[in-house]
Amino acid sequence: MADDDYLDAIDYTRDDLDIEDLEEVKHAVRLLDVHRTFTMGKTEIAAVSGVNLIVDVGDFVVISGKSGSGKTTLLNIIGAIDLATHGRVFVMDVPINDYDESFRASFRLNNTGFIFQSYNLVSTLTAVENVLFPMQLSEKSRSELREDAMKLLEKVEMDHRAEHLPWQLSSGEQQRIAIARAMANDPPIILADEPTANLDGASGQMIRELLIKLNKEGKVVIVMTHDEGILNQPNIHHYKMDRGVLTRHD
Ligand SMILES: Nc1ncnc2c1ncn2[C@@H]1O[C@H](COP(=O)(O)OP(=O)(O)O)[C@@H](O)[C@H]1O
Ligand SMILES: [Mg+2]
Repeated sequence: MADDDYLDAIDYTRDDLDIEDLEEVKHAVRLLDVHRTFTMGKTEIAAVSGVNLIVDVGDFVVISGKSGSGKTTLLNIIGAIDLATHGRVFVMDVPINDYDESFRASFRLNNTGFIFQSYNLVSTLTAVENVLFPMQLSEKSRSELREDAMKLLEKVEMDHRAEHLPWQLSSGEQQRIAIARAMANDPPIILADEPTANLDGASGQMIRELLIKLNKEGKVVIVMTHDEGILNQPNIHHYKMDRGVLTRHD
């Protein structure tokens, strides 16, 4: 596809898209020779180095690799949190690197849900308020939004903890709230950075099952992880990251 074809494409920043609209998307993610170099004084760190990757609608992608290999940096680029220093980054066919921060911020809210290793819930907000947090730009009424947020909490079996603050919840419960928050604007892509690394076996298992369920429901899931339970799943696309270089692992 020519680089400016996206101009005729559907506006994927709209928050009222149906799953049928997604069938028009060619690739959920397309990375072409992506580099991210950090400059620290006189030293250059090539955190991501010449990465090419295509993720299709419906894919479950797992990327493993040692600490420091560039996994978080790559995920941040796909999530429009960070900018590539070289190369092209398409998410839902939109070349997100070419836009200013304000476009990228609203694109991010509607297209990617982030799940972090350390949950990153806002400590002064209750569970339901954390889920409501990314919905701020929605035009729905407060009561409708609250209903949506409660449905998401039900989905992760945390509706009975809606009024709890993060410190009143276990690690696994906090991560379930974080998953509900990632789903807040029904984004087509879920990005997870070592989501089970801080969890015990049973909580980790619940998080794995939720990610698999989201993928079965049609979400693209991209996970950075060493978790054998995720790596052993059937039908995943497994890649390895080593010193910024991504290779396929079959
Ligand atoms: N903001 C930054 N400034 C400078 N160096 C960074 C920054 N973020 C990451 N790095 C470096 O880039 C490399 C890749 O880091 P990261 O993407 O966090 O790896 P991983 O998630 O696989 O552990 C590391 O050498 C790290 O120190
Ligand atoms: Mg990391």
